[in-house]
Amino acid sequence: MMKVAPSILSADFCKMAEAMENLKQWNADVVHCDVMDGVYVPNITFGMPMVKALRRYTELPLDAHLMITKPEKYVGQFCEAGADIVTFHVEASDDVDGALDIIKSFGKKCGVAVNANQPVDIAFPYLDRIDLLVIMTVQAGFGGQSFMENCLDKVRIADKIRKERGLKFQIEVDGGVCPDNIALVKGAGTDIAVAGSAVFKANDPALAVGQMQI
Ligand code: DX5
Ligand code: ZN
Repeated sequence: MMKVAPSILSADFCKMAEAMENLKQWNADVVHCDVMDGVYVPNITFGMPMVKALRRYTELPLDAHLMITKPEKYVGQFCEAGADIVTFHVEASDDVDGALDIIKSFGKKCGVAVNANQPVDIAFPYLDRIDLLVIMTVQAGFGGQSFMENCLDKVRIADKIRKERGLKFQIEVDGGVCPDNIALVKGAGTDIAVAGSAVFKANDPALAVGQMQI
């Protein structure tokens, strides 16, 4: 079944403890944390202290999606803060292998993300050593953008490669995912769907989560 990872980017930043309780009640599978540095992307969100604070309020896996330059400098601190999964963008890093090694050394799950404007090929050298491949279906930077269906071709390619090579990484799709497009997302080979606005702005968030767990 598709796992759903609501992005707290669309939650009320003054009510994060409540958001953690809600996500449990809504039966979410993973908590997706969008970290932005204002350099790799034109927006700034939050960093390690937020992950550390959330850790005290949830037992759900914390998935830190780092949209930051030189992630190798910070991945260890996100692991220490309590993230269970740490992913970052290949082209933002000067040392992708080094960053993956640091995350693994903490016993955490590691992954790379492919932005909407990047070819999936940039992830190929790392597919045999990652736990998670994030394929973005919006250009990283903001929640609430429209879903780019053409990016699902990258999911199909990655899914084909993992089947052919018997690889174990999971595929997470991030950006503009909602109950209306979840069947397409699933059909392309996705294991985990990130959804920010489709969950936190829904009239019935629990229903929205359930509709995406297909
Ligand atoms: C975009 C983020 C996404 C996004 C998800 O840079 O990585 O996680 O906020 O939010 P929605 O589902 O609203 O596109
Ligand atoms: Zn994200």
